[in-house]
Amino acid sequence: DKGNHRHFMEKEIHEQPEVISHTLAHYLDFAQGGIRELEMPFDFAAIDRLSVSACGTAYLAGLIGKYWFERYARLPVDIDIASEFRYREMPLSPMSAALFVSQSGETADTLASLRYCKSAGVPIGSIVNVRDSTIARESDGIFPTLAGPEIGVASTKAFTCQLSIFAALAVRAAIERKTVSAEESARLVRALSEAPRFASLALKVEERIEEIARELAQVHHVLYLGRDTNYPLAMEGALKLKEISYIHAEGYAAGELKHGPIALIDKQMPVIVIAPHDRIFDKTVSNMQEVAARGGRIILITDSEGAARASLDGIQTIIMPTVPEFIAPIIYAIPVQMLAYHTAVVMGTDVDQPRNLAKSVTVE
Ligand code: M6R
Repeated sequence: DKGNHRHFMEKEIHEQPEVISHTLAHYLDFAQGGIRELEMPFDFAAIDRLSVSACGTAYLAGLIGKYWFERYARLPVDIDIASEFRYREMPLSPMSAALFVSQSGETADTLASLRYCKSAGVPIGSIVNVRDSTIARESDGIFPTLAGPEIGVASTKAFTCQLSIFAALAVRAAIERKTVSAEESARLVRALSEAPRFASLALKVEERIEEIARELAQVHHVLYLGRDTNYPLAMEGALKLKEISYIHAEGYAAGELKHGPIALIDKQMPVIVIAPHDRIFDKTVSNMQEVAARGGRIILITDSEGAARASLDGIQTIIMPTVPEFIAPIIYAIPVQMLAYHTAVVMGTDVDQPRNLAKSVTVE
């Protein structure tokens, strides 16, 4: 049931404050400001590497998770697209663990990667939305996303719930590996517990997004840029645009711009930059200047501080609430999803059932 929404995707975007809150309640002890004791398939203090594999949007959630695990828990993460991992014959250390991410829990390549790790004797955890799925059953332990059924082919709420779990697990790993102080971990948990409230605020930029989507619906190519955790988000934004609006889009690390994609910039090419005002904001501003100098059109998704500091001529901004840096990817996923959604609505494509795509890819 779509309720009073036009599409499942729209409904699922709007459900995010609620389902993120639901998911987090499973992992966080809001009252104590800590992480709940969970049954774990492996011990973060006893491993020296974590292998993550998944496909599509779930892979991009894992890529953001890598930044968090490495930054806060000093735990190196190898991440791969499952279709590559399964044939790559990656040597697995007995001190490692594997984590799989899948909304459906049935994706063929992700399942094959899981079985590869299993045969190497590595302990397996999985972040899944469908609890009685094959991937869930074959794992040593599961981390459920409590997103509820996701019907739209384009993944939205499952993604932000996967991110919420990655964030909670990274804090847990940091505590167990003693890489953060008690004060720091309490600060991270506090930030994370605010994610549902900030997600509600993020939904309020929808009108602005609709204006910009009307222009995006006229173009054939879009470049998405971001740094650090906004880099996987840039790829997610590009994936979403391709999937439902059929506009050719590419997501790049902002720092890679001058290593190739800058050659594409002209007056026709919108460049969407995801850049909250954080410790590397100034680096991204210099990339925007490079785009502006070549006549490129910039659409900047930022907060009020970022907008004030990046005053370039002709730039369009989408102004987000000011959020703690740790949770920014969870919150900035929302305008990125809404941009793809509204662009597709303007173009009149079949948003929930885009051409050539299946919700669950059970063949390789
Ligand atoms: O069910 P899974 O999470 O394993 O699916 C993985 C991908 O097929 C999926 O995320 C796909 O990329 C979505 N259509 C993205 O919106």
